[in-house]
Amino acid sequence: MAITDLPERDVLKVPQDFPPGPLFTVPPVLAELRDNRPLCPVEMPSGNRLWLVTRYADVRFVMHDPRFSRDLVFPGAPRMAGDDLTSVEGSLFNMEGDDHTRLRAVLGSYFTRRSVEQWRAAARQHAHDLLDRMERAGRAADLVKDFSEPLVARFAGEVMGIDAAEHRWVQARIREQLDLLGTEEQVASATAAVAELAGRLVDRAGDAEDVSPGPVATLVRAVRDGAISRQEAVSTVGLLLMNVTDPLVPPLTVGVMTLLLHSGQLADCLRDPQLWPEAVREVLRYHNNGITNFPRVALEDVERHGVRIAKGEGVITSALAAAHDPRAFTDPGVFDLHREEKGSVFFGAGPHFCLGSVLAVAVLATAYATLFERLPGLRLSVEPHAVEKADGGFFACPAALPVSW
Ligand code: HEM
Repeated sequence: MAITDLPERDVLKVPQDFPPGPLFTVPPVLAELRDNRPLCPVEMPSGNRLWLVTRYADVRFVMHDPRFSRDLVFPGAPRMAGDDLTSVEGSLFNMEGDDHTRLRAVLGSYFTRRSVEQWRAAARQHAHDLLDRMERAGRAADLVKDFSEPLVARFAGEVMGIDAAEHRWVQARIREQLDLLGTEEQVASATAAVAELAGRLVDRAGDAEDVSPGPVATLVRAVRDGAISRQEAVSTVGLLLMNVTDPLVPPLTVGVMTLLLHSGQLADCLRDPQLWPEAVREVLRYHNNGITNFPRVALEDVERHGVRIAKGEGVITSALAAAHDPRAFTDPGVFDLHREEKGSVFFGAGPHFCLGSVLAVAVLATAYATLFERLPGLRLSVEPHAVEKADGGFFACPAALPVSW
């Protein structure tokens, strides 16, 4: 039966039917789906019905199999809440095949060991500056407002060549674009606004004949060399604005909270700094970002677990559910940075695997290390269950995290 013909009672609604577990943990319903409905029909806020994939092996299968395409740049394509970044023509995220490989090679040339080392040093410097400010102001702070958000803002500003005001503006637009509770108009107009800023950044780098190794300049040089089109550069800059702005703040905040709640493992990291990247990876596995990833569309009929996904139907993976699959992880509900299983899908898998994964781990590990080494007495100032989730965002993040030291 086509997904659109299934009775309403069989279809779960995203996000309403997926309330999170305690302390920003995985929505309990995902365990039930993994066991009993590994391909479950869900309705997105856009009204589109998609097949939700929750088992680790199935999530990897969908991300690797070319019959599931991330090219959703066509009218009527499956959407989350509206025409978000998946609708943008020319973006690396939305391309497949040879064009994807061509554009990915251009952008990939920026993500070198050298740029990672450069950002590690920058993250350390910014973390120290912010901690100096926090210490000058007293012995208490809101970790979101005083540390995570400004650290990511400075990082994003430097990577993308935007100032603080532009960052604040684009962060608000990106949150509107990814807001699952937003209207279709809000999502589409936020997408257009991000594209407009991306266009200005490309022009600015072109005018300045920017020779820096930054990602915008890298794309602009490739336009000049004829390797990619201007539209591909602009759309991919729009994608990068999202990637450097929003997904780093939640692990930087929730991760600190989770480490404070697992003081033995925090002490292990302080004793052996090599463990900080492991702490980051376990935070990303344990909490992950968002209930689901972005959709894909089936290019032909595919059968899995006795369910037929018909050509043209949308499929959406949950890396969060996959990261808690007991078929892949021992005691997945336990936060354990010493765990043996290293594989996960929080950075995706297959051709669209996150280009910024090494950079993201380096920045987060540096931020955790600097924070906890400078403030060994850091503690939550509120009862952990009283920490509230920020509204609307795609990524589960505390609205504020009061701490003292
Ligand atoms: C903790 C932070 C991050 C997480 C959890 C994350 C996760 C992901 C995931 C799951 C995908 C694949 C989506 C799919 O296949 O549908 C992806 C793609 C991507 N990410 Fe990240 N990301 C993070 C940070 C970053 C950063 C900081 C950058 C850049 C500076 C970045 C750049 C990219 C790019 C360019 C792609 C698209 C690759 C392609 O389509 O070929 N990401 N990311």
